[in-house]
Amino acid sequence: MDLPSSTRPVTRLVSGRETRDGAGVRLVRYIGTPDLDRFDPFLLLDEFRSDDPDDYIRGFPPHPHRGSETVTYLLHGRMRHRDSMGRAGLLRAGGVQWMTAGRGVEHSEMPEQEQGLLHGFQLWVNLPAAQKMVPPRYQEFPPDAIPEESRPDGGRVRVIAGTTPAGTRGPVTGIAAEPLYLDVTLPSAARFRFPLPRDHRAFVLVVAGTVADAGGRRAGARRLALLGPGREVRLDAVDPARFLLVAGRPFGEPVVRQGPFVMNTEEEIRQALADYRSGRFRAP
Ligand code: CO
Repeated sequence: MDLPSSTRPVTRLVSGRETRDGAGVRLVRYIGTPDLDRFDPFLLLDEFRSDDPDDYIRGFPPHPHRGSETVTYLLHGRMRHRDSMGRAGLLRAGGVQWMTAGRGVEHSEMPEQEQGLLHGFQLWVNLPAAQKMVPPRYQEFPPDAIPEESRPDGGRVRVIAGTTPAGTRGPVTGIAAEPLYLDVTLPSAARFRFPLPRDHRAFVLVVAGTVADAGGRRAGARRLALLGPGREVRLDAVDPARFLLVAGRPFGEPVVRQGPFVMNTEEEIRQALADYRSGRFRAP
C-alpha cells in the first residue's frame, strides 16, 4: 500500500546565491552558503551557466582539496582538469568527473573554450573520518559511458551514480556516501518515482521546468528542493522538466572546514594547511 507518508516531501526550497569563485567564475551557490551551510553529506553545490566568456574564462586556477570529494557534471561546454601530479583530463558536455581528493589534490579546472555556453555543476560530497586521508582517486567518464534509461512516457534518466529499480548502474562506484546522482528529463504530466533508503539525504536541483511533490508543493527552475525522509521520491512534472536528483548517506560527524579543506577537527585543519604549505600535496 502506498501510504502518502512514504513519499518524500519538499521540506525546503533554496534559491541559491549569485557569487564568484576561482579566478572570477560567476556561479549560483545552493549549498555552502549562510542560508544552507551544508546538507550532510553534501558540502557545496554550485551551478555555472553562462554564454558570456567573461563569466567563466578565467576558470579555477591551481587550488588544493583535502577531506572531501568534488563532482563536476557538465551539460554544455568543455573543461580541462590538470593536477600537480601530472594527471589531466578533458570533461565534455554530458560527462562527469568524480574526484575523491582524500589526503590531498592540487588541481586546476579551466574552461576549454573561448566562447559559447558553459553550463555545469560542482557538488562536494564529504568523506567520513576514516577515509579523509585515502589516496586521491579519479573517476572520469565521457558522455557515452553514462547509461541512460528511456521511460515509456518519453522521459529519460541518465545514471551517473547509484542503481535504478530496472537495474541500470551508474559508472561511479565505491563512494563512501553511497550516492545516487541522476539527471532526469520528463515530459509534461509525467510522474517520476524512485525508491531510496529512508535515512539517506536527498535533494532535487531543478534545471528547467517545474516539478511538484506528492503534496503539490512546487519547485521551479533554478531552485534547490530539499526532500524530507521517506522511502520514495515522487515528483510530477507540471510542465516539461529537467532536474538532478542526488542522494547520499549522512555521516553525522563534526565538520570543520576552511576553504577547500574539510576535516573533523581544528587540529586536522591546521595539519592540512601545514602540509599544503610544505608542498606535500605535490609529492608523489
Ligand atoms: Co577544485
